[in-house]
Amino acid sequence: MLNTINPTKTEAWKALENHYDELKKVHLREFFHDENRENTFSIHTDLLKFDYSKNRINQKTIDLLINLAQTKELSKAITSYFEGELINHTEKRAVLHTALRSNSNKEILVDNKNISPKIKTALRKISAFSNKLIYGKWKGYTNKNITDVVNIGIGGSDLGAQMVVEALNHYRNHLNIHFLANVDGDNADAILKKINPETTVFVIVSKTFTTQETLLNAETLKNWFLRKASIFDVSKHFLAVTSNPKQAEEFGIDKKCIFPMWDWVGGRFSLWSSVGLTISLAIGYKNFRALLDGAEKMDLHFKNSPFDKNIPVLMALLSIWYRNFFKTETEAVIPYSHHFSLFVPYLQQLFMESNGKTIDRNGNRVNYATGNVIWGSVGTNAQHAFMQLLHQGTQLVPADFILVEKANHNLNLHHEILTANFYAQTKALAFGKTPEETHLDMKSSNQENQINELLVYKVFEGNKPSNLFILNTLTPESLGYLIASYEHKVFVQGILWNINSFDQFGVELGKELANKYLKN
Ligand code: F6P
Repeated sequence: MLNTINPTKTEAWKALENHYDELKKVHLREFFHDENRENTFSIHTDLLKFDYSKNRINQKTIDLLINLAQTKELSKAITSYFEGELINHTEKRAVLHTALRSNSNKEILVDNKNISPKIKTALRKISAFSNKLIYGKWKGYTNKNITDVVNIGIGGSDLGAQMVVEALNHYRNHLNIHFLANVDGDNADAILKKINPETTVFVIVSKTFTTQETLLNAETLKNWFLRKASIFDVSKHFLAVTSNPKQAEEFGIDKKCIFPMWDWVGGRFSLWSSVGLTISLAIGYKNFRALLDGAEKMDLHFKNSPFDKNIPVLMALLSIWYRNFFKTETEAVIPYSHHFSLFVPYLQQLFMESNGKTIDRNGNRVNYATGNVIWGSVGTNAQHAFMQLLHQGTQLVPADFILVEKANHNLNLHHEILTANFYAQTKALAFGKTPEETHLDMKSSNQENQINELLVYKVFEGNKPSNLFILNTLTPESLGYLIASYEHKVFVQGILWNINSFDQFGVELGKELANKYLKN
């Protein structure tokens, strides 16, 4: 059973409110008088460095936030999460995406049955199919090799896989991968122009197999396929990933081509399941397994590290510090990695579908803020688009900056400049530029005659918080590790906010109304 106390009614929360009053005026410049600060507030693991020193915190802040986590019995909650208790109470489901990547032989029980053998069988099926298709043993209906894969799915059945396939671009094989999500016919139309029915495999990914967009897209592509091929050829070209195999069979998918999904895996947490089939096809099973292993490494870090050395716990606590005490509404994520262009849309579903909730675990309306708006885009592009607002706008936007230290290419000068910009932005945000510094600067660059008029515009207040995630290298393992850290951040926030992060009733009304419009 999870602790269901309203966090704002605790002594721990009140202590944080008082502490906020003491700390809100302190500038990051002052905090950095301590030369050891970066060391104190950084965590090094073998895959990345998490530097949270540029946050508006001191040791007392961390202690008080951890005290809140303890009051909300976070350790117990973590055990309940990993052990498959029905923490998704509104749907009476366990939340076990962590089991999907576990290499442990420990039994994981759902309805008193060990789910590990099912997971292992599914992984073997993914591995066998990926190998057959990648190495040309799985042929199309005219006996040609497969060249293209179309992933048909939306939300959690699209965003995670698409993000990983893009992020791990350097690990891609020869297969062309397409993602069809939008019901807008332009999405299907553009893909159909690029593929040949003889050499394309379609993976229909839908946990429920009832999602309007996915079913229409699948139907459209099947009809297009049948203009050339016959109904007997469907089994060579159409696969499904679903927890509703009956519906998939009715659609015409061969039983053997159905990959399982389970109700104890939420859509937005599902890229580790058969939903990752497209990932495995794009980068090979070995790399897919390495992605899972990286995530498991983070699971173990999360389960076993004390809170003050625990990356996801600290990520969540810092986020709550800003959301509930500084009253920030948004968080930016800015990866300095070109192939991370889909990381933010992926995180948007992960965080906003999970923690965009107003009703707490007791069925009461919350009297405090929950989920953040997540936004952002890749650096350095972001610098020429929205960074102005972060530097000089009126609202405080905490930001996560992500960098890969050693690039996967040899264009060294590019990487040097990218890296310099990464550090420069976080420094500018934190320390800004004082009127004195601006004055000096203008003087020494022959702008003395403009000082009276322009100085005020050129000052940077600074004191803007950021987290730095520095991955040693971008590998399937380090990506899995990073993604899992955000997943656990979602969980910790949900526990502290006393909300259920694992249902999503808020998406239903729009679907109902769209159906009504269709009937009229
Ligand atoms: O409508 C939201 C949602 O239910 C997401 O939670 C989910 O990831 C997506 O739709 C797709 O659902 P399905 O995999 O069942 O097609």
